[in-house]
Amino acid sequence: MKNIGVLTSGGDSPGMNAAIRAVVRSALYYDMKVYGIKKGFEGLIHGEIVEMNISSVSDIIQRGGTMLRTARSEAFMTPTGFERAVDMLKNFEIEGLVIIGGDGSLAGGLKLAKEGFTIMGLPGTIDNDLAYTEFTIGFDTAVNTVLSAIGNIRDTSSSHERSTIIEVMGRNCGDIALYAGLAGGAEYILVPEFDVDINAICRKIIQGKNRGKLHSIIIKAEGVKMNCEELAALINQRTGLETKIVVLGYIQRGGSPTARDRLLSSQMGFRAVELFNANAGSRAVGIRGNHIVDFDLEEALALPKIWNHSLMELSDILS
Ligand code: F6P
Repeated sequence: MKNIGVLTSGGDSPGMNAAIRAVVRSALYYDMKVYGIKKGFEGLIHGEIVEMNISSVSDIIQRGGTMLRTARSEAFMTPTGFERAVDMLKNFEIEGLVIIGGDGSLAGGLKLAKEGFTIMGLPGTIDNDLAYTEFTIGFDTAVNTVLSAIGNIRDTSSSHERSTIIEVMGRNCGDIALYAGLAGGAEYILVPEFDVDINAICRKIIQGKNRGKLHSIIIKAEGVKMNCEELAALINQRTGLETKIVVLGYIQRGGSPTARDRLLSSQMGFRAVELFNANAGSRAVGIRGNHIVDFDLEEALALPKIWNHSLMELSDILS
């Protein structure tokens, strides 16, 4: 493998820059030419492709966002856009491509793999919704951002003896809510994987109040069917407690990556290039049991995400 490319695609996540840096520097270490493709598949279609050198990725390991920028490309989903993307890879003689993104982005990569390119998928999304890996790049930083918000909100909730619903990201996956809720001592966690049990929520709030708790924090993932307003009205009606809403939104996607995300990105980026060097075919790189692992790209994307029941139960016991 002589020429490779790297792009970031879909929603950005903290640690994508560290991953780009690792890919570029590892490729140079293995004497490969490496191109940065801007704005994901959208930039690929339009030929926004630049050769990278060791200094192209200086001073980015600590930065959130992605220096290559990103997009959710609708054009790439069309036959014409896809063909153009294939032609661009051919024009630049790019044989291998590292795609840093979520499930949709890696699925786009699989389409390119079927055209004969070697694709390495790196899980770049705060949602942690890729089944083949225990953790995705950016998830840890997002959870820590939510934790810091929970701390602030708890202070003011206690002072006013309120209950507060904090809505976090995670389109179809409750992992941000689960991990931040458990680590932040939330009274209740609501995730898209399960129906809302309003009786259980209100019971928990009242039981806490009876024990002398001054606040209650409910973490709700955005993908939960019931919206925050409906939920707050129900809690207020059934417990008599004033209930506020905080939607954290995009602050969860930015910020300097945690040490954990930087290490993950660096190790995964290096593994992707090692796999090119070993002619291993198209792979998805992940982490399991604290080891960097890789799987056949198509098989990895077909795996169903398994819900972590034990963490949910633990949160219920401890809160
Ligand atoms: O996939 C990451 C994510 O942040 C989701 O949690 C969220 O639902 C979505 O992206 C928001 O996407 P957009 O940036 O297109 O608004």
